[in-house]
Amino acid sequence: MCGIVGYVGEGQAASFLLDGLTRLEYRGYDSAGIAIYDGQKIQVEKSVGRLDSLKEKIKDAVPLGGLGIGHTRWATHGRPVEMNAHPHTDCTGEFVVVHNGIIENYLTLKEELIQQGHTFKSDTDTEVAVHLLEEVYDGDFEKSVREVLHRIEGSYSLVFMSKKHPDRLICTKQDNPLIIGLGECENFIASDIPAIIDRTRRAYIVKDGEIVVVKKDAVKILHHDGTLGKLEVFHITWNAEAAEKGGYEHFMLKEIHEQPKAVRNTISPRIAKDGCSIVMDELQWDAEYLSSFHKIFMIACGTAYHAALVGKYYIEKLVRLPVEVDIASEFRYRSPILDEQTLAIVVSQSGETSDTLAALREAKKLGAKTLAITNVVGSSVAREAEQVLYTWAGPEIAVASTKAYTTQLATMFMLAVYMAGIKKNISSPRMQVLIQALQRLPEQLGKTMEDVEQIKTFAKQYGFREDVFFIGRSLDYSVALEGALKLKEISYIHAEAYAAGELKHGPLALVVEGLPVIVLATQKKVYEKTISNIKEIKARDAVVIGIAVEDDHELEKYVDHVIKVPVTEELLNPLLTVVPLQLLAYYAAIARGCDVDKPRNLAKSVTVE
Ligand code: AGP
Repeated sequence: MCGIVGYVGEGQAASFLLDGLTRLEYRGYDSAGIAIYDGQKIQVEKSVGRLDSLKEKIKDAVPLGGLGIGHTRWATHGRPVEMNAHPHTDCTGEFVVVHNGIIENYLTLKEELIQQGHTFKSDTDTEVAVHLLEEVYDGDFEKSVREVLHRIEGSYSLVFMSKKHPDRLICTKQDNPLIIGLGECENFIASDIPAIIDRTRRAYIVKDGEIVVVKKDAVKILHHDGTLGKLEVFHITWNAEAAEKGGYEHFMLKEIHEQPKAVRNTISPRIAKDGCSIVMDELQWDAEYLSSFHKIFMIACGTAYHAALVGKYYIEKLVRLPVEVDIASEFRYRSPILDEQTLAIVVSQSGETSDTLAALREAKKLGAKTLAITNVVGSSVAREAEQVLYTWAGPEIAVASTKAYTTQLATMFMLAVYMAGIKKNISSPRMQVLIQALQRLPEQLGKTMEDVEQIKTFAKQYGFREDVFFIGRSLDYSVALEGALKLKEISYIHAEAYAAGELKHGPLALVVEGLPVIVLATQKKVYEKTISNIKEIKARDAVVIGIAVEDDHELEKYVDHVIKVPVTEELLNPLLTVVPLQLLAYYAAIARGCDVDKPRNLAKSVTVE
């Protein structure tokens, strides 16, 4: 996610651009920039780091002018360095663009444009859009932008500015937000409502495929076929804080609901056009590379560790390579046995967790090949690992990880399928079935959060208990661990997860009347055994909430309540079953009056050992 702003009007563009970007920093904050037409030329100012660095840089010479665009970046392609910060210009400096999203076919376009003599200044996907505009421009700004949109593929919000047309900005969107703020003798463009809320409460919500021409006193909407659209004014009633959370009460709930889009952003660029294979341009592995290691270590903390447990299952099942999963803070103190024939994969949302970073350095010292799976471009693990796979979940603000977990699972599933494809462990029909199941996930994720009333009821009913068990077998056990962590870290309930088969080896002593036990039962191979464990628990009068797939009509016979998730490939169940557990934790924390986004004693990124 990135933050975009634009201004056309009789006031100073810089004032709105900097204020608006401040309000959008939650959308990304590793670099920022503005471009303003001062009557002669377009002045572009950029800086790395938070927006304050940009403000500091220009404080004695703020560009003047009533036409401008701005951007705060959450890097996806190209490290967070100044040359990759937006806005980006064409070769002449006469066209400028800011972008939110991913241009999936940028490599092909970039090669073509370089062939045509264009010089690129950045590693970003975005820059192809403005050189394309320069290439196709024939004097008609709107028509040229439309031609650009015919050539690019992917998800985007784009705002173009041209020195040749200093009275207007042209913007468009596909699968990313963009709004027009309607003022008096001035109009505003922004990724999200917080940016404009202090300037106007009247807005137009741009629809996918529309091209909008914004002047200081007129807004023209063009449908993708060139016909004129209607300016339907939306009246903003939110306050600023509510707007930053997209209308959700907390960032955690917003990020739970962002999971369908986040997973879509993770998987779309990595599924081949024919839908028959997984492509990982970042890796370019082949059979020879895969034969260079005979064992994999996956090392992480907290939620990322729980994700790695699922990743282990994927790789061992599909690739048939042994995988050892370690808690990062334990890894380097146990004299682990790694060498040149080992691949060490570190998993970290922030990419800055000190235990995980230290484990990465230890693995490198022992000669292992290294791969980082992280959400933050240019983070420490991304820079220090030999290779990196980004999860592209967008900034995760809440301390409790949610969309980071599901996008980590999606990334590791694709990595396993990618490796299995290289080793030819999976037949083409099976590969297609797995990929189709993956492509259905974003919509199925949306379905798991449509009806939360039942979960809210459980949260109120059991949210005041001091102990809760989560149990499961196989993949369900890995998700049980994540569910217990979610509940304990934001509601402060003492939640524990156990392998269901372990209960009789001790934990069953804690099962008493009324104890809430969440049982995940989605893995066919161990389903009957899980039913036996439920009977053990029910025999002690505990309360059992079952998590099952929609076509399971047996489980309800053995439990007190059932929450069902859509049917998918059994391997992908964890991406769906985790959602009710995230929501249960969220509503239990609400019921207990806890600070959901900033739970006591915790930090979003643990950069101390
Ligand atoms: C998860 O909800 C917690 N916030 C915490 O366990 C977190 O997963 C852990 O600190 C690892 O963080 P990382 O993924 O940024 O390395």
